[in-house]
Amino acid sequence: MSATGVGIRFGSFEAVRDISLDIAAGEFLCLLGPSGCGKSTLLSAMAGFVPVAAGGLTVDGAPISGPDPDLGMVFQSSEALFDWMTVRQNVAFGPRMRGRSRAERAELADTYLGLVGLRHCADRFPGQLSGGMRQRVQIARVLANEPRVVLMDEPFGALDAQTRQVMQDEMGRIWRASGCTVVFVTHDIDEAILLADRIAVMTAGPAASVKDVYPVELPRPRDETDPAAVELRRALREDIGEEVRKALRDQGLDLDGDAMTEETR
Ligand SMILES: Nc1ncnc2c1ncn2[C@@H]1O[C@H](COP(=O)(O)OP(=O)(O)OP(=O)(O)O)[C@@H](O)[C@H]1O
Ligand SMILES: [Mg+2]
Repeated sequence: MSATGVGIRFGSFEAVRDISLDIAAGEFLCLLGPSGCGKSTLLSAMAGFVPVAAGGLTVDGAPISGPDPDLGMVFQSSEALFDWMTVRQNVAFGPRMRGRSRAERAELADTYLGLVGLRHCADRFPGQLSGGMRQRVQIARVLANEPRVVLMDEPFGALDAQTRQVMQDEMGRIWRASGCTVVFVTHDIDEAILLADRIAVMTAGPAASVKDVYPVELPRPRDETDPAAVELRRALREDIGEEVRKALRDQGLDLDGDAMTEETR
């Protein structure tokens, strides 16, 4: 997946400007940045949902011109699941739309439900599952299309802390097993350090761009107490903190007084 000089506009509002990123096949890239900077916007353009106003996006050299089963999108909430279909039918939906045979569909659903540890839930309906389980169904449903790129927009943001931790561990395993390229948007610096090969930090919007790209050269599974992880966390906090402060100042907040919160410090 490559972005070259990408600009995205909503009418006269310039959300994103001149973003260039080369994401290797099979790489796990995390996008971090202040709220409202344009992470979801960039991801939506990568998914073909939003057109670019400048530059271009390609996968394996082919331009992205619209939604494509090769570009799987996992949303923050699992409302995207079809509540009236069983878990198996949800996962088999993409392959069904692409004309795969009944046997192929069953096999794909089994494989990817197995990968996310939910084969035993195949005949249940989404409403009968926990939030974490529904999110795993969503991931299986995207993977069943065997996409080249999986785009994830804060996929664990709505989960409680314990479930999120389990899902983060699972995600590493699922990504390695599937071999796909992942672009993963998160607010959570620790989540990014745990998962990413590289972390791209965006500047505050409008006209947000990529500020820095940090390689995460830590062995997996990651140890958050590793001095290199601690140092990376410090550097990322500082880098993003600067952008958050800029964004808040632009919104008219006085940060030179004592009103600064721990989160923005
Ligand atoms: N459909 C739209 N029409 C107009 N403006 C939009 C639209 N979608 C997003 N924007 C604007 O683009 C900017 C970037 O929004 P975006 O949702 O990409 O931010 P984000 O980085 O994902 O934020 P968060 O971390 O809060 O999810 C914001 O100023 C937002 O108001
Ligand atoms: Mg967003």
